[in-house]
Amino acid sequence: MNDPHPPVDHDMDNFWMPFTANRQFRAKPRMLVSAKDMHYTTDDGRQVVDGCAGLWCVNAGHNRYEIISAIKQQLDTLDFAPTFQMGHPKAFEAAKKVAGLAPEGMSHVFFANSGSESVDSALKIALAYHRARGDGTRTKFIGRERGYHGVGFGGISVGGIPANRKVFGGQLLPGVDHLPHTHNLREAAFSRGQPKWGSHLAEDLERMVALHDPSNIAAVIVEPVAGSTGVLPPPVGYLEKLRAICDKYGILLIFDEVISGFGRLGTPFAAQYFNVTPDLICCAKGITNATIPMGAVIVKDHIHDAFMNGPEGIIELFHGYTYSGHPVAAAAAVATLDLYENTGLFESSRAMHGYIADAAHGLRELPNVIDVRNIGLIAAVELKSRDGKPGARAYEAMVKCFERGVLVRITGDTIALSPPLIVEQSHIDEIFSTIGDVLKTLD
Ligand SMILES: Cc1ncc(COP(=O)(O)O)c(C=O)c1O
Repeated sequence: MNDPHPPVDHDMDNFWMPFTANRQFRAKPRMLVSAKDMHYTTDDGRQVVDGCAGLWCVNAGHNRYEIISAIKQQLDTLDFAPTFQMGHPKAFEAAKKVAGLAPEGMSHVFFANSGSESVDSALKIALAYHRARGDGTRTKFIGRERGYHGVGFGGISVGGIPANRKVFGGQLLPGVDHLPHTHNLREAAFSRGQPKWGSHLAEDLERMVALHDPSNIAAVIVEPVAGSTGVLPPPVGYLEKLRAICDKYGILLIFDEVISGFGRLGTPFAAQYFNVTPDLICCAKGITNATIPMGAVIVKDHIHDAFMNGPEGIIELFHGYTYSGHPVAAAAAVATLDLYENTGLFESSRAMHGYIADAAHGLRELPNVIDVRNIGLIAAVELKSRDGKPGARAYEAMVKCFERGVLVRITGDTIALSPPLIVEQSHIDEIFSTIGDVLKTLD
């Protein structure tokens, strides 16, 4: 019989790991070798409960039979087919399923292979849309401080995470401005759900419109819930204000739902949770339950239709990826979205929203905790930074949690939790009691 946990070759020189302190990791690796439902198994055979759905992406839990078997079947049938001037049925089927989950009037789907690519695609669609309507001076983008939109040049330009921009600062897109972020410990620490303070920050967009003139602004892009910066739910009324100002001046509103899409808030997209409909939605991650890379941009019908006016033999959008709508990714998406629907996963996961909020806020009195935030199946615990060593305290917490069998995600000094939507009370108890125990050990 095969050993389910064969020894791992620790010769690790060749893989340059992303967003990782490579030398620190190699000195003390944390290796995951298999996974099922809520758990990873490590190379030394330990079970680790997944507190962050991989990287906010394994929404239905790991290794779901329905998805894996659809992928295997697709590989046996059609491994690859181009989608430039050719088609295959799974891509159309996947687009229909994605559109079926989107807000009313958003029924066109452009496929990419990652969140970063979906962001760059959305920005390009926004520019091309204005131009197609004869409004080609609209070229500026407005992002937001602390926003994360992946790592393409478009994404880091509209993004607002200083470390991701610093080294590349000389070559960011020109013509980008940033709204202020909404994080304010003095006004809104320990808010449960959406902070009551802060909707006025959206009004900064009026100032930018006055400065740049609306005729020059193509789109505003925000994460409805900022994730990678450390979980910032939008203040009550904030997204509504952005929507209203964009409408007033003909500016497109892009929601980057790479994290918030596919049930993270108990609805297909955050757009439905907040009842604010953007013009474009970027998504990825949970679209295939992270089994096969895929990203997508979902577009309002009138935006798509604006491209469909010229001669029929002309390519309408000079943009696309070799793997846009890849058959295996498309099969994974169809099976994933079927699984979400057939199990009522988004709806059933709502039962855990209050429970995870209680568990997270239960940590507020622990040493060094300066904020707790939550929304849907997302929670965050922000720690006071050690003097001169930002991120060190949370890193130590992450390592200790892992050693005790819980995987958490950290960003700066914030511990972020976003478990698979199949999470049960017992897992939440285990995750938060472990974090609590660890926090008590940290100086
Ligand atoms: C909001 C948001 N946009 C874009 C991305 C980039 O996605 P990817 O890493 O698949 O390129 C992420 C990744 O976490 C994200 O959270």
